[in-house]
Amino acid sequence: MKVIAHAPGRVNLIGEHTDYTGGYVVPMAIQLGTTIEFERGVPWIELVSDVEPEPVVLDLASPVDPRLVQPAWGRYVAGVVAAINPQAGGSGFVRTTLPVGAGLSSSAALEVALALALGFEGPPLALALACQQAEQIASGVPCGVMDQLASAAGVADHALLIDCTSFSVDPVPIPDGMGVLVVDSGQQRLLSESRYGVRRAQVEDAATELGFPLREASEEEVSRIGRDDLRRRARHVVTENRRVHEFVSALRAGDLREAGRLVDESHASLREDFDVSTPLLDDLADALRRQPGVHGARLTGAGFGGCLVALCERDARVDPAIGERQWWVDASAGAQFEVLAE
Ligand code: GLA
Repeated sequence: MKVIAHAPGRVNLIGEHTDYTGGYVVPMAIQLGTTIEFERGVPWIELVSDVEPEPVVLDLASPVDPRLVQPAWGRYVAGVVAAINPQAGGSGFVRTTLPVGAGLSSSAALEVALALALGFEGPPLALALACQQAEQIASGVPCGVMDQLASAAGVADHALLIDCTSFSVDPVPIPDGMGVLVVDSGQQRLLSESRYGVRRAQVEDAATELGFPLREASEEEVSRIGRDDLRRRARHVVTENRRVHEFVSALRAGDLREAGRLVDESHASLREDFDVSTPLLDDLADALRRQPGVHGARLTGAGFGGCLVALCERDARVDPAIGERQWWVDASAGAQFEVLAE
């Protein structure tokens, strides 16, 4: 059987480092993504990529530790295989328009497209949870579900308000005049894996000290947490959840200034309280804010380098020299799958 599967990358507008606390996020799937053409029906997987020098070859009959697979992009392939246990493999070609490893969820797009190509059937949430598991297996990073769910459940022209406790996905229309610019800082996300794990452990410790989930905590309750680092991490999560709701109200009202102000506030909180920014990301966010037509800018994704997102007027002219690369992104539909030949 010959199939084709496509999965988009994502940019997160607001709600950072909240998904794994059961909080709220507002990502949108974007027009950049990964497409796999795949011929199913053999007991191995062979994939060639247009951006990777070496192909991935995996024998389904003798599984290996996904984290030892070479070339390294094959770890995500092995992670998907471990997570969904497909009936058959196949061979195919991977094409991507996403920058790899820049923070636009190129790995989530690969996982989601591959799971569909390998025959995964189920609703977007089940697909996203399987691919989250694949990502954790492949990378060892205890990531949340935001990236995979945005890729699986994207809606054209809408951002997605996701409740990461109930996993409800509520599409929020992108106002007509709003533009979204993604800026790659060019800074490698050094040590992001281990630091991400530390942050996750800190917010879990904070919740344990409180005795209830952070999404139920008030700023006042969080201010009584004894340890300084845990208190600041928890304060970020609690204030970020509040900002998410205010941001969604601002978008629904078409108030880009207010939405941009919340985006700026999110960056400050990620810098001061969650401590995942870098001097370069701070400088680039400042430079973006000075551009005419830009309402707000913040780091997006895990931080420690990677990309920024700027909330702009649709016709804003942003100096192309800010950052290493820039993309104007549109909110796109989620993953798609089609049988080309039986
Ligand atoms: C990465 C993870 C997500 C989320 C963000 C931070 O992108 O994969 O689950 O935690 O970082 O918001």
